Amino acid sequence: GLKIATIGGGSSYTPELVEGFIKRYDSLPISELWLLDIPEGEEKLTIVGNLAKRMVEEAGVPMTIHLTLDREKALQDADFVTTQFRVGLLDARAKDERIPLKYDVIGQETNGPGGLFKGLRTIPVILDIIKDMERLCPHAWLINFTNPAGMVTEAIYRHSNWRKVVGLCNVPVGIKMGVAKALDVEADRIHVDFAGLNHMVYGMDVYLDGKCVTEDVINKITSGDSSMTMKNIVDIGWEPGFLKALNMLPCPYHRYYYKTSDMLAEEKKNAAEEGTRAEVVQQLEKELFELYKDETLRTKPEQLEKRGGAYYSDAACNLIDSIYNDRGDIQPVNTLNKGAIGSIPDDSAVEVNCIITKDGPKPLAVGDLPVSVRGLVQQIKSFERIAAEAAVSGDYDQALLAMTINPLVSSDTTAKLILDEMLEAHKEYLPQF
Ligand code: NAD
Ligand code: G6P
Ligand code: MN
Ligand code: MN
Repeated sequence: GLKIATIGGGSSYTPELVEGFIKRYDSLPISELWLLDIPEGEEKLTIVGNLAKRMVEEAGVPMTIHLTLDREKALQDADFVTTQFRVGLLDARAKDERIPLKYDVIGQETNGPGGLFKGLRTIPVILDIIKDMERLCPHAWLINFTNPAGMVTEAIYRHSNWRKVVGLCNVPVGIKMGVAKALDVEADRIHVDFAGLNHMVYGMDVYLDGKCVTEDVINKITSGDSSMTMKNIVDIGWEPGFLKALNMLPCPYHRYYYKTSDMLAEEKKNAAEEGTRAEVVQQLEKELFELYKDETLRTKPEQLEKRGGAYYSDAACNLIDSIYNDRGDIQPVNTLNKGAIGSIPDDSAVEVNCIITKDGPKPLAVGDLPVSVRGLVQQIKSFERIAAEAAVSGDYDQALLAMTINPLVSSDTTAKLILDEMLEAHKEYLPQF
């Protein structure tokens, strides 16, 4: 059987993953699932791990769940390593979201200054995990969910020799599900041509039973029939003329770039009233773990759907299943561009539809991105690259450069103020600076 190691196993999302593995057990016979965490996460690991054990018992699948704080044991001879860890936990995310707001800048844990800092904290850890994988499980696939997933994948390609890596996000599945809902059809009849970067991905064309329906879907969205957002991003509608001219589906995160001032106002209001998303999630997490503690609970509870990661396990499990079974189906993932998107360097990570085989993802050719979005996508790619560079070097000016070229930051002096305050706030998790 297969051995899976999940780093950040104490995550409240773990029941999603376990449910996904249980559902696919016949084609994906996982005999060992190792949930790894760190001492700060031990309590969560124990609670969610025990629920995972009850779930497999209830389902009657012979999958052994191991709970451990020992990375060596978790990684030893693993076939797949999935990552869902959060360096500094939700307290760090709350700082990522709150500090920039003081300077009238959206923090955002993946796209803005928050994303930069989440990357600075995360990239050294993932590179260290890879060093261990080289020794303990050199043939394993690394399936990275840890955000900022695009920047992390980029960092792995640029700053390690590890190539069996795939970056994953639930945004594309979420868009596909949203389209199915808007058109009131089963999701398996929908195909979307995805291309771009993580949290910067476009549905370039949408098909229903093979027939192009992009315009119909855009009409549904602009007429308010469908919202197409996710739990963690406020749902403010799009200017109809803008979307029609764009003629592609934006992803929910595009609101930060195309509706910057509206989103800033919204986030400031939320921060003052109910708390930033991290603070809301802290509360949600408490409730979830209270539920998980209940020994009569033996399946994934509904309440988990309040998190932004809906369909997260589908993305992870479908990918692992297709690599393991050499399926050759199409899935949107983060992988090396290799010329698929003309406007992005060949050796950069992109989020694009790929054929998934036992050799991993093969990106499908897209050509150049439309002129309307090309510049923004390239700018975000530059941001991710410079940010990854700064994470590895610990160079202050490089970090300032990354912060300044982020489109959500409007001046170098503001960038410096935010940078200085965030470096201080996060210093415990930034040994490289
Ligand atoms: P969380 O705060 O619950 O963290 C998960 C666990 O990681 C915690 O139990 C924590 O103790 C552990 N951890 C921290 N540092 C670790 C380390 N060095 N080694 C091992 N474990 C460590 O986080 P969450 O809300 O469940 O999210 C987990 C991660 O997954 C985040 O990075 C989040 O951004 C990401 N995520 C990504 C997607 C996606 O679309 N790519 C979807 C959902 C969540
Ligand atoms: C979406 C994104 C993830 C992100 C999550 C946040 O699923 O794709 O990358 O981590 O939302 O959800 P949360 O419930 O933590 O705010
Ligand atoms: Mn994501
Ligand atoms: Mn800028």
